[in-house]
Amino acid sequence: MTKTIVANWKMNGSPNFIEEFIPPLLSALSTTQHKIIICPPFPFILPVRNALKSTPALLGAQNCHTDVKGAFTGEVSAQMLADIGCKAVIVGHSERRTLFGESDELINTKISAIHAAGMRAIVCVGENMRMRESGKAIETVIQQLKATLPPSSNPKNTFIAYEPIWAIGTGVTPLPEEIIEMHLALFEALKNTTPLLYGGSVTDQNSAEILVLPHVDGVLVGGASLKADVFQKIIG
Ligand code: PGA
Repeated sequence: MTKTIVANWKMNGSPNFIEEFIPPLLSALSTTQHKIIICPPFPFILPVRNALKSTPALLGAQNCHTDVKGAFTGEVSAQMLADIGCKAVIVGHSERRTLFGESDELINTKISAIHAAGMRAIVCVGENMRMRESGKAIETVIQQLKATLPPSSNPKNTFIAYEPIWAIGTGVTPLPEEIIEMHLALFEALKNTTPLLYGGSVTDQNSAEILVLPHVDGVLVGGASLKADVFQKIIG
């Protein structure tokens, strides 16, 4: 079954890395049954896009500004990303929420900008360990979902990525039943078929079993997307 696999390189990569990373991936990319979206840091979007142009892989970004243009030194607009061929933007990642103070309200406005530019928003939601331990994981995540999704959201322009904060970069993943429970709650809250991705310590060792869980339409891969051999196994 076709799933969506998103690679989030975070602030990693270099011209040398791209030169070494892309060639071994090309054959896997041309035969995979899955939809692949690679999200490099801004300076590498164009080189990666050029290197992958003979494959069906799509390009995405990891952030954008809310406005189309203007006096916002250091920022990049969703429209600029669309203009250089991006099809998606990750938004609401817990690293942006925690390290850069992004609020649900700001994320909501960014998602509107992404939609206005004709791209897909990959909207991250997820609880921290304190919330999970106090039995409030579902409540927290559904609240984030409701606060962040603007009226422009629909199943064709949005992915929801469930990323428990305690699973990001830790090597710890939720139990399959915890993923099933959360994805069912998201599906019911959305009342539509917006694709649901799981993210947090996805590797070649666990991706196959996660991808077959109910209401899991794909995965968002961080660290493991930077290792060509591992990522090749994940995209199958
Ligand atoms: P990870 O990161 O796969 O390294 O846990 C996932 C993410 O932050 O999107």
